Amino acid sequence: MQRGVSSVVQLLLLQGCLCAVATGYLFRTPLDLDVTPRVTVLNSGLQGCRHFQSSAVNYSTMLLEADSERLYVGARGAVFALNASDISAGSALTIDWEASPEQKHQCLLKGKDNKTECFNHIRLLQRFNSTHLYMCGTNAYRPLCAYIDVERFVISSQPEEGRDKCPYGPTTGYTALIIDQQIYTASQYEFRSFPDIRRNSPSPTLKTEDAPTRWLNEADFVGSVLVRESVGSSTGDDDKIYFFFTEISQQQTPTYSHSRVARVARVCKEDRGGHLTLQKRWTSFLKTRLTCSLPEYDFHFNILRSVFALPGQTPQDTFFYGIFGLEWKNVKASAVCRFTLSEVQEAFQGPYMENQDSGSKWKEYTGKIPDPRPGTCITDALRARNMNFSTSLPDDVLNFVRRHPLMSKQVEPADRRPLLFRRTTDYTHMGVHTAQGLDGQIYYVLYMGTDEGWLHKAVDIKGQLHIIEELQLFEEPQPVNNLLISDKQWSVYMGSPSGVVQLPLSSCGRYTSCYDCIFARDPHCAWNGAECVDVVMQADRSTLIQDIQHGTEGCENTQGDVVHRNRSVRVGDDVLLQCELSSNLATPLWMLDGRQVQGYDLNSGFRTGTDGLLIIDARQDQSGLYTCYGVENGVKVAIVTYNVTIRLDLHPPPPVDPTHGFAITRAPSEHPPTEKSKPPLLSPLLPHSDLLSPRNMKAIYLSLITILGGLCVVLTVVLIYVGFCLRVGHRGKYSIRAAAAAHQSGKKHHRNRKQHRNSTTMELKTISSHCNGNGICNGSSKMHNGNIQDGGLLQIVPGEGHTSPSNEPLPPAPPLPPTPQLTSPGCDFSNGLSATLPSVLRRMHGNSYVLLRQSDSENMSPPGYSFAEELNKILEKRKHTQLLPRPDESSV
Ligand SMILES: *[C@@H]1O[C@H](CO)[C@@H](O)[C@H](O)[C@H]1NC(C)=O
Ligand SMILES: *[C@@H]1O[C@H](CO)[C@@H](O)[C@H](O)[C@H]1NC(C)=O
Ligand SMILES: *[C@@H]1O[C@H](CO)[C@@H](O)[C@H](O)[C@H]1NC(C)=O
Ligand SMILES: *[C@@H]1O[C@H](CO)[C@@H](O)[C@H](O)[C@H]1NC(C)=O
Ligand SMILES: *[C@@H]1O[C@H](CO)[C@@H](O)[C@H](O)[C@H]1NC(C)=O
Ligand SMILES: *[C@@H]1O[C@H](CO)[C@@H](O)[C@H](O)[C@H]1NC(C)=O
Ligand SMILES: *[C@@H]1O[C@H](CO)[C@@H](O)[C@H](O)[C@H]1NC(C)=O
Repeated sequence: MQRGVSSVVQLLLLQGCLCAVATGYLFRTPLDLDVTPRVTVLNSGLQGCRHFQSSAVNYSTMLLEADSERLYVGARGAVFALNASDISAGSALTIDWEASPEQKHQCLLKGKDNKTECFNHIRLLQRFNSTHLYMCGTNAYRPLCAYIDVERFVISSQPEEGRDKCPYGPTTGYTALIIDQQIYTASQYEFRSFPDIRRNSPSPTLKTEDAPTRWLNEADFVGSVLVRESVGSSTGDDDKIYFFFTEISQQQTPTYSHSRVARVARVCKEDRGGHLTLQKRWTSFLKTRLTCSLPEYDFHFNILRSVFALPGQTPQDTFFYGIFGLEWKNVKASAVCRFTLSEVQEAFQGPYMENQDSGSKWKEYTGKIPDPRPGTCITDALRARNMNFSTSLPDDVLNFVRRHPLMSKQVEPADRRPLLFRRTTDYTHMGVHTAQGLDGQIYYVLYMGTDEGWLHKAVDIKGQLHIIEELQLFEEPQPVNNLLISDKQWSVYMGSPSGVVQLPLSSCGRYTSCYDCIFARDPHCAWNGAECVDVVMQADRSTLIQDIQHGTEGCENTQGDVVHRNRSVRVGDDVLLQCELSSNLATPLWMLDGRQVQGYDLNSGFRTGTDGLLIIDARQDQSGLYTCYGVENGVKVAIVTYNVTIRLDLHPPPPVDPTHGFAITRAPSEHPPTEKSKPPLLSPLLPHSDLLSPRNMKAIYLSLITILGGLCVVLTVVLIYVGFCLRVGHRGKYSIRAAAAAHQSGKKHHRNRKQHRNSTTMELKTISSHCNGNGICNGSSKMHNGNIQDGGLLQIVPGEGHTSPSNEPLPPAPPLPPTPQLTSPGCDFSNGLSATLPSVLRRMHGNSYVLLRQSDSENMSPPGYSFAEELNKILEKRKHTQLLPRPDESSV
């Protein structure tokens, strides 16, 4: 029977191998571009975080005025004035501005959603003049605008009609600027109307043209920027406004089958429209394509989600940063591309496109271009030729403009490729801060919010982004709706559906050792010999250590704090030597008495995991001095040493203070240690091999079969799906690469939790549901009951006593998937129970097991701290944690 079962197992293992090989073969394309954030900080671990919340929701507009230290925030039905240095301080000034019940009723009658759309969402909130702000709200599908008296913070006038400057819906693409008391807006205002870029009163109202050539096609606007390009002009007559959007491409060319494209369009600020032709229309409208792609992988990021303009020394040095996504809504991926103003200008100076036969054929226009060049602003040069306003432009120029809105030259990113590509993240908004490194270079630091409420801080190093950290802003996943940076307040502000969060631009104190500080490569941080400090706060910078370019040098002579621990266990126990690396980019390396421990070899009796070394079925010859190193950027840093003594004695160890580490051992009664010295047959899949009493064997085999079978079924499904997608086209190509990257990252022991979770749940969801009632997990659920039942079940007992220095610099809490169960409310979280509780169901080279993490200091553990309780919590978490075998590991 047993032999039969095991041959079935072998068969399945073989099949598993084949599956894995097949997947490995198909998913081979490497995607090293996909950047892993170095450090993951959960909501509970955020430092210096401030929160603003009220009864209102949907904090979607923000206006920061550094001089007055005020942050104005527009939400659903309310506007707030917050203290920008601390948004949680004091009571916020508030203006309530709800849609009337009658208007809400009207909205409902129009068939709109009374849970989202039939409210007054503030969409525009900007400075109008020195005393007033201007705001517009959707007002339950009947937009209204009003002035705010800043001094008293009240609405100072009767609200006015807003339908020509504000969209009707809360999520309609929209951008607005108020410049010199003129309101420039772009949106598809009403559901059925054409998208339009408008300038509203007081000066002549201007719009985009719809016929014979439609200038905009279902444009989805994300941003607009004024660039004061005028050189030597006091009137700013060459200043232009750039609009960023995604639209349907009318252009059908063999190279681009994509229906949507990212665009930049521009108009002259002083445009007054034409006289007869283009009356009340822009005479300076031009648009072109923004490209952001990985051509070697055939990835074209056609959707522009957000744009950030970084002013330079002169207007010419302006950078536009764009967050791009793929066209398919169900595929998460983001790319960040950077464009220079001069290249955008160059495109607008280049050849025009022409629409032939008024069909979908667009070709580069090669005929004569009228003079003055269509689309130019009225400057002194034209005024000298008696063309004082755009209304005096010749008719042939205006006619040309009317029919040639599109330029032929596309704008490529400044670096000819994305700065960043992320597979599993949808960035929503970003901001850029410049910082001077100690090496004298200017570094661009990017803050990017995600659709799940994380903030990524990244630094541009030679055209590549290194993600310094990922911060969980909210416990409940929710999109970052807005992001602003204040250098003066040293803060980044983010709006979301539930509130506004303020974080400092840097938290260097998070890095506890010199190497940690250097590896971070954060231009804001440097090591001063004792701690990692904010560079800007330091008067004397001569002794500071920083290495942004390589992240390796400067710490050679500093004394790292290596934690020393003693462990004493019995022969046959499973011992976990903990070593948690705070960096997702570090890999662990274990040495035993100076020799490297082969933790990946299945017969070695060791397993190297991301959080420690497991000695399975300890033998006496495994005693010795173990040292754990974290290897990052090619540098080996000792973190902890364990003096492990493995004793041959049968008595259970005496109970010790539970805050001190654990060894995993077995109930001694049924299994004398001698029986267990043979290597466990199934140890790769079942680390606790002593579960294998004959009675349990069958159940375990069966569950194993179920798991492997399920895995194969899923893999097969994935393969079929992938194959199908391949034929479908680009989407398929993407899926393959996504999986390839997951595969790759699995191999490299990347420990980005979010990423890992996403990739595995995508492909292997069914396994976990299988697992929940079976095999390994079944063992755990018995443990859950706290009983030791038949067959010598696992028991978790405290390890041998050892004391540790009270102020050990242990690395911060390990990265975890952002499941709500794992954190506790609020940013201003004080170290409570859940912080000291371990976290984790970790994986050791493909195995799942329960790990109890010891707390870092004793005073953190609450009195009456029970193991059963802790175990329950872990198991509870385990239920929600879907960490699954990866395809490449199923074959072992
Ligand atoms: C904002 O808060 C800071 C400190 O919390 C305080 O010093 C400052 O006066 C406040 N500013 C305003 C405008 O209330
Ligand atoms: C929305 O309208 C439905 C009826 O159409 C009603 O049952 C529901 O209570 C309304 N919800 C709110 C929040 O007003
Ligand atoms: C600002 O604009 C408002 C609204 O038009 C007006 O009432 C106010 O007088 C203006 N303030 C100044 C200083 O011009
Ligand atoms: C343009 O302005 C100049 C001086 O401001 C004036 O002399 C000239 O007549 C104007 N031309 C037109 C066509 O209005
Ligand atoms: C507003 O917030 C709610 C939750 O607070 C969310 O469900 C909804 O999608 C948000 N709407 C917009 C337009 O952001
Ligand atoms: C470990 O044991 C040695 C002696 O065996 C002792 O000197 C040392 O203090 C112990 N270290 C810790 C951290 O307990
Ligand atoms: C390890 O501990 C044993 C006794 O527990 C001691 O004899 C030995 O010297 C220790 N080794 C080191 C390197 O501390």
